[in-house]
Amino acid sequence: MISGLVRRLEGKVALVTGGASGIGECTARLLHRHGAKVIIADVQDRLGSTICHDLGPSGDCTFVHCDVTNEDHVRHAVDAAVSRFGRLDIMFNNAGVSDPKRPSFAENEKSDFERVMGVNATGVFLGIKHAARVMVPARRGSIVNTASVCGVLGGVATHAYTCSKHAVVGLTKSAAVELGTAGVRVNCVSPYLIETPLTKEFFRLGDGGGADNIYSNLKGMQIRAEDIAEAVVYLGSDESRYDGENGMDPQSHYLHHVKDGQKAERRKSTVYSSFCNFIILMGSFVKEKTISPKGLSSFCHQMFETVSFSLLRSINLLFEE
Ligand SMILES: NC(=O)c1ccc[n+]([C@@H]2O[C@H](COP(=O)([O-])OP(=O)(O)OC[C@H]3O[C@@H](n4cnc5c(N)ncnc54)[C@H](O)[C@@H]3O)[C@@H](O)[C@H]2O)c1
Repeated sequence: MISGLVRRLEGKVALVTGGASGIGECTARLLHRHGAKVIIADVQDRLGSTICHDLGPSGDCTFVHCDVTNEDHVRHAVDAAVSRFGRLDIMFNNAGVSDPKRPSFAENEKSDFERVMGVNATGVFLGIKHAARVMVPARRGSIVNTASVCGVLGGVATHAYTCSKHAVVGLTKSAAVELGTAGVRVNCVSPYLIETPLTKEFFRLGDGGGADNIYSNLKGMQIRAEDIAEAVVYLGSDESRYDGENGMDPQSHYLHHVKDGQKAERRKSTVYSSFCNFIILMGSFVKEKTISPKGLSSFCHQMFETVSFSLLRSINLLFEE
């Protein structure tokens, strides 16, 4: 049980698409445990309603039937958050599907491709659009999209799935640039393989698991839905107030577990992002011309975070080698 002292989302309202199962369910539960009021939006009505019922009779969790490919449904889900709880602070665009694995490109069906793109890419687009509709006037909010390691790699999943997750990464960067000017942060989480109904079906995993045999992540560690849920809580909380201010933030790709050949690329991108952060910080100094105690403290805080983050990443990479 989380004590009142560490409830990081007290007073916030979160909408979770695909919240009836897997990563979405786990995240909805953790957001609620941290004090957020939660709207679960999914096509699985029975499962979604059961989770809300399970979270208690307080009325702090509500289910909305929502097919994320249908703009009216997404509009309605966002409006339901505002009319029921008065605001929307966190939008977790997480609903996703995959198509079946096919041995060759020629066997891939257009209809499967469009279905996967519809849920995974268009669904995220609609989620961002309607969250922004209420977040921009309020000049606050955090949008988190579920991408995947397939958002930067090929050959791990189907063509349609890979394409859709690359699209989510692109949408995240693009939206972060526009909405950042209105104080709305946009990030994505990019999980590796986690055992959920989606992956059990795709990889034909048995109940005994086996996900750890498909990819090797951190040695001896297997990523769980809870790890993604923790990342979403962080990105939805005020602790991440600087993450997502621009599309280059290294944590836009939170939880990527990159394969060996990409370590150098990752190191390069960390240094590049730190450099960009430094330039942004210096730019705001030059613009303001004076150093207010508040500005100075915020600058030092950001520098400390940037430097310590880079150091931690470098140490981490050193030990992984
Ligand atoms: N499990 C993994 O290893 C993994 C890795 C990377 C990314 N992801 C992504 O994580 C997200 C969640 O997947 P999961 O693994 O928890 O799978 P899951 O099947 O357990 O959950 C997906 C949820 O999305 C819902 N959904 C499907 N189509 C929908 C639609 N049109 N409208 C609304 N809801 C819809 C489903 O009903 C389900 O509740 C997906 O975007 C998936 O691509 C999963």
